Amino acid sequence: MAKRIDVSGLNAYYGSFLAIEDISMTVEPRSVTAFIGPSGCGKSTFLRTLNRMHEVTPGGRVEGKVMLDDENLYGAGIDPVSVRREVGMVFQRPNPFPTMSVYDNVAAGLKLNGKYKKSQLDDIVEKSLKGANLWNEVKDRLNKPGSGLSGGQQQRLCIARAIAVEPNVLLMDEPCSALDPISTLAIEDLIGELKERFTIVIVTHNMQQAARVSDRTAFFNLAAVGQPGKLIEIDDTERIFSNPSVQATEDYISGRFG
Ligand SMILES: Nc1ncnc2c1ncn2[C@@H]1O[C@H](COP(=O)(O)OP(=O)(O)OP(=O)(O)O)[C@@H](O)[C@H]1O
Ligand SMILES: [Mg+2]
Repeated sequence: MAKRIDVSGLNAYYGSFLAIEDISMTVEPRSVTAFIGPSGCGKSTFLRTLNRMHEVTPGGRVEGKVMLDDENLYGAGIDPVSVRREVGMVFQRPNPFPTMSVYDNVAAGLKLNGKYKKSQLDDIVEKSLKGANLWNEVKDRLNKPGSGLSGGQQQRLCIARAIAVEPNVLLMDEPCSALDPISTLAIEDLIGELKERFTIVIVTHNMQQAARVSDRTAFFNLAAVGQPGKLIEIDDTERIFSNPSVQATEDYISGRFG
């Protein structure tokens, strides 16, 4: 539950292209950290290095260290599959398994383990859907396809699926960008609740959202197209939005570029 992330000297490549360079930061447990910055600066790439998803892309390669408490996720003998169980991910577009029921979508990760009885699965599915603030809306249609839900409901279903396996960390890449304002607020409220139990990192292009949901904000930027993205600064969200240390951060959050 809720572990500390400590990244040092991290580079990520696509083939020979260095997409992000020399990133170091820590993320405290039970906190929300927002990643902001212009398109192409490497936010998604960096996020995917935190659960060993980057290397799934052909040519994807990582250098450096990502510590989750005492364990280096890139250390020898670490199984990427178990890392992805510990560090869950929610994507920009809700991606429920289309042919599966609501129930099976939530239970999917648990069923891979194979060791749960039906009654245990029932409990975890209910708890996860409640945790994702979706239970009341779907409790009477658990056996209907997950793809039949609204976009906002599907995104909460994906969150339920992610938390069902009890990860330590939850990564979210623009989880609200395909949602209407009401669903967005529902997800933001949910993030506030989930941080009691998980360490959360969220990428967002919405400055108000970053200001509303996060404790810390990291600003990424790139000098020019083709150059690697870098972490410019990370600080308390309040400080980033009121009095950042770097001019480029101020320019970005006040809408002068990006
Ligand atoms: N699969 C890929 N193959 C090659 N290059 C890629 C790949 N995915 C991303 N890149 C490049 O890596 C850099 C960082 O991309 P990334 O998607 O991480 O940026 P981002 O900050 O998430 O942008 P956005 O805000 O648009 O989502 C960009 O130059 C991008 O073109
Ligand atoms: Mg992205």
